[in-house]
Parts: sequence; structure tokens; C-alpha cells
Amino acid sequence: MMEESLNGLKRSMYCGEVRPEHVGQTITVMGWVQKARNKGSLIFIDVRDRKGLVQAVLSQETADPQLFELAGSLRTEFVVAVTGKVQMREGAVNEKLSTGEVELNVEGLKILSTAKTTPFQILDEVDTREDLRLKYRYLDLRRPKMTNNLVLRHKVVTAIREFLNQENFIEIETPMLIKSTPEGARDYLVPSRVHPGHFYALPQSPQMYKQLLMISGMDRYYQVARCFRDEDLRADRQPEFTQIDMELSFVEEDDVMDVNERMIAKVFGDVLGWNIQLPLRRMTWNEAMDRYGSDKPDLRFDMEIVDVTEVAKDSGFGVFEGAAASGGVVRCVVAKGQADMPRKKIDALGEVAKLYKAKGLAWMGLLADGTVKSPIAKFMTEEKIQELAKAAGAEKGDLILFCADKKNIVCDALGNVRLSLGRQLDLIDPDRHEFLWVTEFPMFEYSEEENRYMAMHHPFTMPYDEDVQYLISDPGRVRAKAYDMVLDGCEMGGGSIRIHRRDVQEKVFEALGFSMEEALEKFGFFVEAFSYGAPPHGGLAFGLDRMIMLMSGAESIREVIAFPKVKDASCLMSEAPSVVDVKQLVDLHLAMAEEEKSE
Ligand code: AMO
Ligand code: AMP
Repeated sequence: MMEESLNGLKRSMYCGEVRPEHVGQTITVMGWVQKARNKGSLIFIDVRDRKGLVQAVLSQETADPQLFELAGSLRTEFVVAVTGKVQMREGAVNEKLSTGEVELNVEGLKILSTAKTTPFQILDEVDTREDLRLKYRYLDLRRPKMTNNLVLRHKVVTAIREFLNQENFIEIETPMLIKSTPEGARDYLVPSRVHPGHFYALPQSPQMYKQLLMISGMDRYYQVARCFRDEDLRADRQPEFTQIDMELSFVEEDDVMDVNERMIAKVFGDVLGWNIQLPLRRMTWNEAMDRYGSDKPDLRFDMEIVDVTEVAKDSGFGVFEGAAASGGVVRCVVAKGQADMPRKKIDALGEVAKLYKAKGLAWMGLLADGTVKSPIAKFMTEEKIQELAKAAGAEKGDLILFCADKKNIVCDALGNVRLSLGRQLDLIDPDRHEFLWVTEFPMFEYSEEENRYMAMHHPFTMPYDEDVQYLISDPGRVRAKAYDMVLDGCEMGGGSIRIHRRDVQEKVFEALGFSMEEALEKFGFFVEAFSYGAPPHGGLAFGLDRMIMLMSGAESIREVIAFPKVKDASCLMSEAPSVVDVKQLVDLHLAMAEEEKSE
């Protein structure tokens, strides 16, 4: 079959934009054949492009015989140019289509490209294995749903740029080949050809550069920035992803949070029509952990965690008493009306708790008849059981799930049990959305592995002024001027006010276990820059992929990235990463590590 060139033929309209107002006009559309139906004396061709689908029709009676024959040879996914007169549909109107009232009466047809049978049908409804979709991603992206995700992404980035430009921000690019610095996730490294044994790193974020831009006097910067992190992937993580990154000079937390929540309200309002009430709700990290067991609580349902340590500490149940006596806590969540949840399901929740390092999940079902079903009831008096139920805020018919351990383990375990219950019991209204700022993060978290305090956000985050005095004596109680924006239980963005004072920076480095000299070695140019006049500054970065995932309701960020990678960080389409020519390795002065060689 002949594939033709355009030879001067021009598209005059997108398929998806043909409307009754165009009736009588002769137009040319170009796109892919969604379906060609041959009904004997009539041929219907559905042509699809980025904006939608239009029906074209030929009748054997009126069409040129050669044209009719050519139309009869069309197959799904052929690329065609169709010229025809717009007319109202003679057959039934298709209300599902934006072009459903009209059709094209074909006067000219070119086959621009033929197509093999595709490995899966190009339809939203077709439920194909994800690995196949990713291998043929360019076909997957033809599906309207996927196309729309990319269009949504484009609209959001455009709206963000417009907003930030108006707010006096300037867009500046920062380098992709940078110096590897410790802290944070693992770097992707790029070997240098010119400097044997030396490596660049790909940026995990533009953090240092955007701060340097503040020292340069750029005042307000943003960037749609590519970031690279060699970490274990999950549904909401990719090895390369995009941030909406920004930094502002002469500001405090409220200023950064204010401009960002106005941006989010505007973008979600303009693009999705959401009506977001400002200011957004705020909650300290401590409160979020206590009430929801998470630093990114999903506020679309209640089921708050309740502390019952005071009642449980002399309950007779050794596990509870032991935890309380050693400075731990006993906390619980109450599942309303779930007293007779099947044992299997309770055990599955116990497995969730164990996944987060809890030793177990004790439970108590307060049955409607007044009896109590529980593996730990035998250790307690009837009175104590009632006291515990009361402290938990549980009533007849409810199920109480307890966890006893160190506070951080209990929070984590119950926070995740709560989320599992929320999903399992269908407590989340999909039309409800809850934004939240989480504030006052701890400055440091203690790493059992490294046996030292590590920066929770990064070592350039400003501590609360009143906590600076504890940097050396009691780092665990120091709060940072850091904030995260959470939407529906997902961390959409985060940032902080940075340290611009040398005295504070020195103390923070000391708390992290290194001296100013060592810091100079690690972060050299960056630390030095601060001695030439640094304005007070702070900023934030949103994960664009996560934002679009939340806006589109997609289950994974892979759905909103044109060419994503899979769990093992490979690309199923291009098969990256791949082995390279030995000559390339020689040029880069690289030899495979010894153990690899011997394999
Ligand atoms: P942070 O590391 O919190 O902060 O990242 C900011 C936001 O980026 C998104 N994100 C990711 N998205 C997809 N895949 C990943 N692997 C991934 N990792 C992070 C999240 C997160 O909220 N420089 C600081 C920001 C600042 O302080 O200004 C930073 O990178 O949505
Ligand atoms: P055991 O006496 O060890 O069989 O535990 C009795 C119940 O207590 C079981 O349902 C365990 O899951 C639960 N359990 C054990 N350790 C803990 C803990 N640290 N916190 C809460 N429940 C626990």
C-alpha cells in the first residue's frame, strides 16, 4: 500500500474541534484511524488526534469509486489526511463525543502512514499490563486518558509560570553536572573524560544553586527543575522527577507559605475549578504525629490516634506495662462498628503494624451484647477493660486496635494501620480534598545506623530562634523553620527558611558532628559564599509529578510522566541502562569493579 507525502496539503482543523458551527465548510483533518467500519455501501472512519475524534463518512453512491476503495483499505492506527465537508450527522448523535453531532463527508483521503496491528488497543478502557504499556509507551500515550494527563501537566506548568512571573520571580536554569555532596539520597554520578577518576553528580535538587542565586541578589527565583535521586522507587517516586523549585530573599516562613498557597489555590482553581479556602490549615509536626501518626496526615477521614498510656500502664497486660515503664507509650485507634471484624482481617492489620516495626497489634472488640472479644482481655479486670474502652473513646460495637512501644514506632505503625482501615472501610470520600501545612519539623533525627544526629531536611535549614540554644546540648528538641504542603495524605512540596548567619551554621555543623573546617571541605564554595553577604532567605519545592498525580486522580506518578522508569529504575522502552562499548569506558578511565570483572 502506498504511503503518501503531504505535497502541500495543510491541516485546517483538529479532529476534536469540529462543531455544528462548521457545517458547510470543507476542512482537512489529520490523525490516526481509531476505527474504520465498512457497512457495505457506507464506510465510517473515526479519525483521532490530540484533541479528540471525528467521524468521517463515504457513501458508495456518491463517492468517487477509487476514493471509496482506498477508504475500504484503511486499518486501525493508519495515519491519514481526510478532507471533507462538515455536515450534521445523518445517523444517531453521539453524546459522548464533543464532535458527536457532526461528521465529515469525505472528498479527499491520503494514507500518510500504514501501521502494524498494535500490541494493545488504543482505548481508555483497554486494561493492558503496565509493562506492555511502558514498552510501547508512544502507543500508550495515544490513549486519550494519557494524552490528557500530559495536557493537564502542561496547563499546570503554564499556570504556575504565569503566577510566579506576576509575583516578580525570574526563571533561572541551574547546572545538571554538579559536584557530588554528601547528605541526602544517593547521587547519580557522571564520570569525567577530561579529569581521570573525577565525577560529576546529577542534582538531587537545585538547593545549593538557588541559595547561591539569593546571595547573587536574584531576590526571587524559580525553575521547573529536573532532579535525580538514586533511591528505592515506590508509586510516588521516580529516579528522575521534576520540581517546581523556588527561593525568595528577605522573607520568613509566613511569606513563603503565603505565596505558595496562593499559587496552589490559583492553579487548582483555574485548571480544575477547585475552590480552595485560604489560608490553608496548619498543624505542627508533633500534633500531626500524635493525632495521625504521620508527618503527612490524610485528613479526609477522622479515626484519630488516642493515647491510653495512663490507663494501660497498670492494666495487667505485661506488654503495655513494659512499654509504659520504659518510657514508651500505649496508643490505639478505634474502628467504629467493627467489633466483629473477621480474625483474618485483624491479623492483616497486625501485619501492617509489624511492617512498621511494631511487635504486635493488640485488639478488643466491644460486642453489641456487652461482652468483649480480645486476646488480651484475660490479663485484665473487667473494670480495666471498661476504663481502657472509655479512654479510647470507644463504644459498644467498636473495635480498638492497640500498639505499645517507643513513641515513634507506635506513631508509624498506628498511622499506617489507620490508613489501611481508611481504605478498607471506604472512609475516604474521593470528592473531598484536604490541604495542610505541616510545620515545626524537628531539625534532626537520630540515626541508629550512623549513631549520630542527621539533618531531617538539610543542614542549611534555620532552627527556631528560641531553640538555637539547644543545638549542642539537646539537638533532639530543636525545631526547624521547615514546612511541608500535604494534599490528601501525600507530601506535595516542602521547604524551609535557610541559615544565613554564620554563628548558627557553625553550631548546626557541630551538632551534625563536623567542624567548620570539615564543612568547608564538604560544601566548600557554598559555605564560603555566605561570608560575602547573604540575605535572609527561604524557599520551597513542589514535586510536579506528585502534584499532577493528585490532580488527575492517577494511582501512580508513572501515569503523569511521558516516559517513566519502573521499580528497578530501568526504562522498558529504551532498555536503559545498558552496557556500553569498552572504548567508552576506556575514554572515561573506567574499569569495572573487581568483583564484576571476575563474574
Ligand atoms: P524535598 O526533598 O522534600 O525538598 O523535595 C521536594 C518535593 O519533591 C518531590 N519529590 C519527589 N517526587 C518524585 N520522585 C521522587 N523521588 C521525589 N523526591 C522528592 C516531593 C517533595 O515534596 N531542595 C528541597 C526543597 C527546598 O527546601 O526548597 C527539596 O528537594 O513532592
Ligand atoms: P502475646 O501475649 O505475645 O501473644 O500477645 C498478645 C497480643 O498482644 C497479640 O494480639 C499481639 O499482637 C499483641 N501484642 C504483642 N506485642 C504488642 C505490642 N508491642 N503492642 C501492641 N500489641 C502487642
